[in-house]
Amino acid sequence: MAFELTKEQLMIQKMAREFAAKELAPLAAERDRTHEYPADSLKKMGDLGFLGMLVSEKYGGENAGTVAYSLALSEIACACASTAVIMSVHNSICCGSIEKYGTEEQKEEFLRPMAAGAFIGAFALTEPEAGSDPQAMTCTAVRDGDHYIINGTKRFITSGKNGGVVILLARTAEKGSRGISAFLVTHDFAGFSVGRIEDKMGQCASDTVDLLFNDCRVPASRMLGSEGEGFKIAMSGLDAGRIGIASLSLGIAQAALDESIRYSRNRKQFGQNLSGFQGLRWMIADMAMDVEAARLLVLNAAAVKEHGENCTAAASMAKCYASEMAQRVTGQAIQIHGGYGYIKEYPVERFYRDARITTIYEGTNQIQRIVIANELLGRQ
Ligand code: CAA
Repeated sequence: MAFELTKEQLMIQKMAREFAAKELAPLAAERDRTHEYPADSLKKMGDLGFLGMLVSEKYGGENAGTVAYSLALSEIACACASTAVIMSVHNSICCGSIEKYGTEEQKEEFLRPMAAGAFIGAFALTEPEAGSDPQAMTCTAVRDGDHYIINGTKRFITSGKNGGVVILLARTAEKGSRGISAFLVTHDFAGFSVGRIEDKMGQCASDTVDLLFNDCRVPASRMLGSEGEGFKIAMSGLDAGRIGIASLSLGIAQAALDESIRYSRNRKQFGQNLSGFQGLRWMIADMAMDVEAARLLVLNAAAVKEHGENCTAAASMAKCYASEMAQRVTGQAIQIHGGYGYIKEYPVERFYRDARITTIYEGTNQIQRIVIANELLGRQ
C-alpha cells in the first residue's frame, strides 16, 4: 500500500515539522523538567491553525482532514509529546465532538474560539473507580429545573487545569450506557474545582488532574447532544482520539529512531563508529521497519476516518500497534545510546518515559484488543 500524500498534506506536514523543530524541540527537555505548561507554544499553534485542524471553515477551522492532522500531530510529538497530547485531546475528542453534537450556540461559544486556540479542551470520562469500564461511573447529573446538579470526581484529566472547557460525562439515569450524558463545563461554575495534580513519569508538561464537582449547577443548555447520548459521544470521540494517540506514538518513535541514527554515526568504540557494527545496524533496521509498519496503520486509520467510514477497528489497531511499537523503539534507542541513553542529558531518556503512557491512555491496549475483536467477531 503506497500512500500518496497531496501537496496540501505535504505542506502542512512541513509546516508542523518546521514549527516543532524551531519552537518546541528547544524547550521540550526544560518543560519536562519543570512541568511548565506550553501555553506560549499553544498560542502560536492556534495562530497557525493547528488547534482547529478538523474544524470546518464555517467555525474558523482549517478543515484539513484527518490525514493532514495525523501528519502534523506526529511532527509535534517528534519534538514534544506533552504538547502533542494536549493537541490531540483538543482536536480529536473535544473539537470533534462539539462539531458533531453541539448546538449552533455551543459551536459559536466554544468551537469557534477553540479552533483559533483561544482555549484548550479537556475530556472528563475516567473516574477513580471507572477507568477501562466507564459505564461504572458514579458522577451524577440530576435535573433541577433548567439546570443539572453535578456531583462526583473525575480522574486523570488531560488539560483539566489549564484547559478552558471540559466535556464532562455524568450519569443522568441510574443504569446502562444510555443513562450517561455529556456537558460542556467551564471553570467559572461554583462547585467545580481542580483537585490533585498528578506527578507523572512522562509527558510532564501537560497537566493531568482530578476534577471535583460538588453540587455544581450547570445550565441544561450546556448539555452536549441529547440526554442519554453521552456514552456514544464519548466512544465515537475516542475512535478519533485513538488516531491522535497513534500519531503521537509514531512521532515519539520517529524521534527516537532519528536520534539513534545520529548517535550511532558519531559514537566511536573499538576504533569505529557504532553504525559500522552489524549488531547495531540490524537494530536500526528493525526499529525503522517497526516505525514504517506503524506509519501505514496510522495513515490507514486516518484515511478511513477522512473518508467517513467506520474507523473503530482501524483506530484501535493503529493505537495499539503504534503505542507498543513506540515502547519497543524507544527502549532500543536507549540500548544503542548505552549509559548515555539512561541520563537526562540525552533526549531518548525522555522519549522512553513519554512513550510509556501511550499503551494506557485513551483505552489500554487490552481494551483496544477487545474493541478490535468486537468489530471482527461481534460482541460476546
Ligand atoms: N462509537 C459509537 N458508539 C459506540 C461505540 C463507538 N465506537 N462503541 C460502543 N458504542 C455504543 C454501543 O453501540 C452501545 O450503544 P447501545 O447501548 O445504543 O447499543 C453502547 O455504546 C455501549 O456499548 P458497549 O456495550 O460495547 O460498551 P461497554 O461498556 O461494553 O464498553 C469498551 C466498551 C470498548 C470497553 C469501552 O468501555 C471503552 O472504550 N473503555 C475504555 C475507556 C477509555 O478509553 N478511556 C479513556 C479515557 S480518556 C483519555 O485517556 C484521554 C486523555 O486524557 C489522554
